[in-house]
Amino acid sequence: MIAFVLAAALSVPAKAGDAAALYQTRCSSCHGLNMQGGPQGPSLINADAADLDFMLQTGRMPAERTWEQEVRKPPSFTHTQISELVAYVMKKSSGDQSLPAIHSGGDLGSGRIVYAENCAQCHSATGKGNNIAYRNVAPSMMDSTPLEVAEAVRSGPDVMPKFGPRVIDQKHLDDLLAYVRWLQAGKYNAGGFSLSNWGPISEGFIAWVAGIALLVFLARRIGTTD
Ligand code: HEC
Ligand code: HEC
Repeated sequence: MIAFVLAAALSVPAKAGDAAALYQTRCSSCHGLNMQGGPQGPSLINADAADLDFMLQTGRMPAERTWEQEVRKPPSFTHTQISELVAYVMKKSSGDQSLPAIHSGGDLGSGRIVYAENCAQCHSATGKGNNIAYRNVAPSMMDSTPLEVAEAVRSGPDVMPKFGPRVIDQKHLDDLLAYVRWLQAGKYNAGGFSLSNWGPISEGFIAWVAGIALLVFLARRIGTTD
């Protein structure tokens, strides 16, 4: 009997077993043993490989708190474990099985237009992020790898829209990646006072504080002259 159980355990291919064990210990409490979802997390049976890979590579999953916007963290798994986990979940998912293709050598000028039209309103012109609504922050993409950028574009995490190939085709995606690379190298300068490039959230805050100070000053002046 013991020998039989042992033989059965040994006959499971080591890799699939590892991914299954990882899924059970690190994902199933929220996404369900059969990836059906539940009160703690959505179903993964239609998840795309790009979405899964993005969530794991950027450390968003496993989540720490449920139904909160996840933030970028160091990944919990090695690259090999991530690709095995993605393959394991994708065996049950009816979503898109392939990761987005990416090529170097995109056109900067064209990428700048794609970025301005589709991304800047949320991520700001610098790519350093912005506050779009209560608790929904479009984060900085300064640390994103080209593959992660392409995965975010194709899978639309959280409230970010999903940009399919009919909106941004492969050539424009490669152009966009070239432009994001350029932003990451710190080559964008919006002009005017940069306030040490602290980014739009703090710059907005500084403008607000300075604006209030000016209003108080004006109000006091008006008050004393009559
Ligand atoms: C503590 C609960 C929890 C754990 C553990 C967890 N998740 Fe999640 N997951 C969530 C919630 C809640 C969401 C919904 C979006 C959010 O909160 O960011 C989510 C979203 C996702 C998404 C995006 C699905 C979609 O519809 O957009 C993927 C893919 C995912 N999780 C994969 C995983 C994998 C793989 C693991 C294990 C390594 C894991 N998650 C562990 C709670 C969890
Ligand atoms: C409606 C606002 C919105 C638009 C438009 C948008 N995004 Fe996003 N983006 C977000 C939000 C919100 C997140 C965070 C998602 C999460 O936390 O799961 C995000 C996440 C990302 C990330 C992940 C960064 C990280 O922290 O790892 C990248 C990369 C990214 N977006 C690139 C883009 C690009 C490129 C475009 C244009 C094609 C774009 N986004 C358009 C809102 C937006």
